[in-house]
Amino acid sequence: MNWLITGGCGFIGRALASELLATEGQRVRVLDNLSVGTKADLRGVGPFSELRVNTPNPEWSAPLALCEANILDYEAVVSALVGADVVIHLAANTGVGPSVEDPFADCQANVTGTLNMLEACRHAGVDRLVFASSGAPLGVQTPPLHEDMAPHPASPYGASKLAGEGYCSAYYHCFGVETVVLRFGNVYGEGSGHKQSVVAKFIKQALAGERLEIFGDGSQTRDFIHIADLVRAIRRSAEQAGVGGETFQIATAHETAVAEMTDALVAVMQAEGLNPPAVFNGASRAGDVARNYSDATKAAERLDWRAEVGLQDGLRRTLHYFLNQKNQ
Ligand SMILES: NC(=O)c1ccc[n+]([C@@H]2O[C@H](COP(=O)([O-])OP(=O)(O)OC[C@H]3O[C@@H](n4cnc5c(N)ncnc54)[C@H](O)[C@@H]3O)[C@@H](O)[C@H]2O)c1
Repeated sequence: MNWLITGGCGFIGRALASELLATEGQRVRVLDNLSVGTKADLRGVGPFSELRVNTPNPEWSAPLALCEANILDYEAVVSALVGADVVIHLAANTGVGPSVEDPFADCQANVTGTLNMLEACRHAGVDRLVFASSGAPLGVQTPPLHEDMAPHPASPYGASKLAGEGYCSAYYHCFGVETVVLRFGNVYGEGSGHKQSVVAKFIKQALAGERLEIFGDGSQTRDFIHIADLVRAIRRSAEQAGVGGETFQIATAHETAVAEMTDALVAVMQAEGLNPPAVFNGASRAGDVARNYSDATKAAERLDWRAEVGLQDGLRRTLHYFLNQKNQ
């Protein structure tokens, strides 16, 4: 299969590319503007060839290729995805914070960028597009989050991801592009060195000998999903028949308090013979969601997918990754 991964130099994209290339017969083309991910990051996946932007009908000969382009450049997008069997659309403004600072830039990347990808799929005859969404479109809700809830986004990021979901639905019903929307939980794991999410941040701080600050009393809950489970879900949603136009919560369905995750991380560090970091409770953050986890029943029923990596195991794997990086 020919896979076009937008944002393929990033955390999730690289993990997906590595997993795909471990199977024979898969070719991966990455479209990334290198605003966050780098060529050196992609080299960690394997050797790659570089595709010049707007090359007419470039061949899918190399197992891994990079097309350095912006998803907002429609011509570049069309030329990059001719011949793709599936598009995994990960490139985005990825956080609530930047969306609050600059809602226009967030809208450009997440709404216009997604519309570009869908329109290019329609014209290039690409059958399926998997869209990376999150819990943010649902906004403030009483968990567990599930697919039947009415969305009430509470940030520009949630609004732009919701608009992306809306265009996915429209392109399925109007133009027959088989779109699949995946709403990821809090993803953590190997390859997350540049992320500011809580697991990556705490491990980096602990290895630097710094104290870990929990915002508030740590009773706020999250659904921590390991990257290996997430990548399996993306792949399943790209290959499974009959799920065009559908939305799935992709999460563990376990509600874990941030304090509980921190205790587990400290225990994992001690088991590895490392000094346990000091942990303290700072001020609560305005707008921090108190409880957040998802019901993943629909993904189990329709995609035959369930999260398998337990938190302890996932934290241990993630810690090993950071230790290896530090020792290199
Ligand atoms: N990591 C999580 O916990 C999480 C949770 C929910 C949803 N998501 C979604 O998953 C997707 C991937 O997240 P990630 O954690 O891998 O992010 P990441 O920042 O590690 O990777 C994103 C990649 O996209 C590229 N990119 C950004 N804007 C671009 C543009 N305009 N054109 C081309 N490339 C561009 C960046 O250079 C980067 O390599 C995003 O859509 C994000 O919103 C992530």
